[in-house]
Amino acid sequence: MKLAVVKETREGEARVAMVPELVSKLTDQGIEVAVEPDAGALALYGDDEYAAEGATVDPSALTAADVVLSVQPLTSQQVRRLEPGAATISFLSPGQSLDLVAERRDVNVTSFSMELVPRISRAQSMDALSSQALVAGYRAAIVAAQRLRRFFPLNMTAAGTIKPAEVVVLGAGVAGLQAIATAKRLGAVVKGYDVRAAAAEEIQSMGATAIELELETLEGSGGYAREMTEDRAARQREALSPYIAAADALITTAAVPGRQAPLLVTTEMVEQMKQGSVIVDLAAETGGNVEGAVAGSVVQVGGAQIWGAFNVPSQMPGPASKLYAQNLIHIVTLMTHEGAFAPDFEDEIVAGSCVTHAGQVTHAPTRELLEGGA
Ligand SMILES: NC(=O)c1ccc[n+]([C@@H]2O[C@H](COP(=O)([O-])OP(=O)(O)OC[C@H]3O[C@@H](n4cnc5c(N)ncnc54)[C@H](O)[C@@H]3O)[C@@H](O)[C@H]2O)c1
Repeated sequence: MKLAVVKETREGEARVAMVPELVSKLTDQGIEVAVEPDAGALALYGDDEYAAEGATVDPSALTAADVVLSVQPLTSQQVRRLEPGAATISFLSPGQSLDLVAERRDVNVTSFSMELVPRISRAQSMDALSSQALVAGYRAAIVAAQRLRRFFPLNMTAAGTIKPAEVVVLGAGVAGLQAIATAKRLGAVVKGYDVRAAAAEEIQSMGATAIELELETLEGSGGYAREMTEDRAARQREALSPYIAAADALITTAAVPGRQAPLLVTTEMVEQMKQGSVIVDLAAETGGNVEGAVAGSVVQVGGAQIWGAFNVPSQMPGPASKLYAQNLIHIVTLMTHEGAFAPDFEDEIVAGSCVTHAGQVTHAPTRELLEGGA
């Protein structure tokens, strides 16, 4: 089995799907690993490091591959260089990439989407949404600390005391809890809020205060949140307003799977924040939790600056790549038998993450979207 690792082509993507120190986890299974030149350069992994670990560095790695690993989906041009029957494993967001999915179906390429790996305990080691959210949550707290022109921790000096910063985190999933933990470690006073009932205990376990609102909790399936009605959203915004007005830094991470990010903070609420306050909106790419947030930009609203996230894991490409590569090793290992690529489509993880196979779109919601648009 020949496995290729591509050099990412999407602008701003600094991650790579495999890191040198993990190559032997593949070669030990009899897998031949070929890496495109400079694949790891932006994450500071050199070609010589891959070669030293047993990979070949090959500009035509793609054309001979049985399986291709990447972070972002392969482009149309890359897909057309593959042999029919070859497989790709990457983030794919199939619902937002219908043209790419249709092309893969038509040229008979098998596609696995890392966003679709079922969140069951057996698949935890393959959960790339969580591994990358961990990086994003950490980074969100660091960005807030760096942009805020005051201390996070309490400082007691002979001359007097400086109070710690107040940080509010909205959405306490994987990224939010990591932001809470990081802000706490930096010494801020941290409060968190999430619509799921279980989140209050998780927020407290990170040493933060859980904001408890007199609103019904919203549990969906699989441990995720449900979408709010507009009425509940309005009541939540009203109840959160005093907490946000009192915050020096606000970090928002709220998401509902398959939906646009919920609007948690209006311009009016931002305008009530103090001069010099900082907002980090990790949901900026999916519509934003904060009105006016722009992905990849900093926008000033009243006294507050809103930092809109754009591919945050890529801002820490070394560790983000290593975590992602570990996720990929686990899924590749699941689909490898005696050195050959042999996915078992009866397996819940394999079937759940597959989008195209044998000239068909196997992921039903994507197929329906494609048929609806046809
Ligand atoms: N393998 C597994 O079993 C597994 C893996 C990862 C996460 N999880 C669980 O899934 C849950 C969500 O994880 P995630 O980080 O991927 O979620 P996510 O990225 O979909 O959403 C982030 C958070 O936003 C919250 N949210 C949604 N709407 C909100 C609103 N209106 N106001 C405030 N908060 C709102 C959600 O409840 C969630 O906690 C967590 O319970 C997590 O522990 C399970």
